[in-house]
Amino acid sequence: MSNTLLELSTLRKEFGAVVAVDDVSLKVGDGEFVTFLGPSGSGKTTTLMMVAGFQKATSGSMTLGGQPLDPLPPYKRDIGMVFQHYALFPHMTVLKNVAFPLEMRKIATAEIARRVDEVLKLVGLPDHGERYPKQLSGGQQQRVALARAMVFEPRLLLMDEPLGALDKNLREHMQIEIMRLHRDLGITVLYVTHDQEEALVMSDRIVVFNEGGIEQVGTPDELYENPGTRFVAGFIGETNFVNGRISSVSKHMAQLDGPAVLRGRISEGLNSGTAASIAVRPERMRISLPEEKAPPGANTVTGHVTDIVYLGRSRNYIARLNDGSEMTVLVQANVHGLEAVGVGAEVQLSWRPEDSKILAAG
Ligand SMILES: Nc1ncnc2c1ncn2[C@@H]1O[C@H](COP(=O)(O)OP(=O)(O)OP(=O)(O)O)[C@@H](O)[C@H]1O
Ligand SMILES: [Mg+2]
Repeated sequence: MSNTLLELSTLRKEFGAVVAVDDVSLKVGDGEFVTFLGPSGSGKTTTLMMVAGFQKATSGSMTLGGQPLDPLPPYKRDIGMVFQHYALFPHMTVLKNVAFPLEMRKIATAEIARRVDEVLKLVGLPDHGERYPKQLSGGQQQRVALARAMVFEPRLLLMDEPLGALDKNLREHMQIEIMRLHRDLGITVLYVTHDQEEALVMSDRIVVFNEGGIEQVGTPDELYENPGTRFVAGFIGETNFVNGRISSVSKHMAQLDGPAVLRGRISEGLNSGTAASIAVRPERMRISLPEEKAPPGANTVTGHVTDIVYLGRSRNYIARLNDGSEMTVLVQANVHGLEAVGVGAEVQLSWRPEDSKILAAG
């Protein structure tokens, strides 16, 4: 990782008896795009608000560029912020809204005009300066909010679910624009979302929050392919879990006795005899008629199809195993040979042990 720009050390926030943020420690590199991902109420906004200076930490500390942040009021922190709800000033034009942070900082008028002009071009709204927020679409308002957060060239940009209120197409379009701005300007971004797809698409690293604490930190690839806990495996992407008990452990692999004897990569700290689950992604599995031979070494289980869900470019086959657990297999539309597999059919499901992970039971 590049030089650390932001460092959070055992940051904690209590609201009365509620522990909203529970000893969060994290380093964010200069120029990095880091996303906080987690369910509602897991502490994402509260953490961001402490970084911005709008909430005071109960304990712990923060530095930006090596300097303690805690003594500084929000406007002296060199941090831009975009909130979930646009929060533009409704009685001010776009120009006035974007100029506001510069006026607060007592920048000269000519310089303000130049910078506002430049940043409105950057977000694709060069001719909208005279309009009022209510004369703009949701996506345009969010771009103005982005322009206002960037215009004073902060070292760090915080965004709390900035696209939450937009429809799917516009959201995807804005995701790409924000990624482009991040790349072109080299600005460091802390981004909050509870949309795991958005997090996977946009981030250099993702911080998974759960109940006020950090569950796991990693690149999108690491979290998707190598989740450390059942929570992460279930929260990022779709995952099948089959329960059993670990019967043997070798270096990186273990064996689980469940509906069949299954092998998978093992997560740290699990021992033989422990109750555990094996996790495998639907797209890593194969479905076939029971008489078909599975590839050598593959994990195989048998069951029957309960549902087939048509998804356009793929189909999901949902199968119930003999122990009652359900597994979903994703089959691409261009895969043929499953014409005989309908609802009720007996099937065999198989996957490579390396494509699955054995995790502590949830
Ligand atoms: N001002 C407050 N007073 C009391 N409790 C609060 C306050 N702000 C947040 N909380 C509580 O702190 C916890 C974390 O809230 P936070 O807003 O950080 O969650 P979040 O991860 O941003 O959730 P969401 O995805 O719904 O925005 C929740 O239990 C919430 O109810
Ligand atoms: Mg929030």
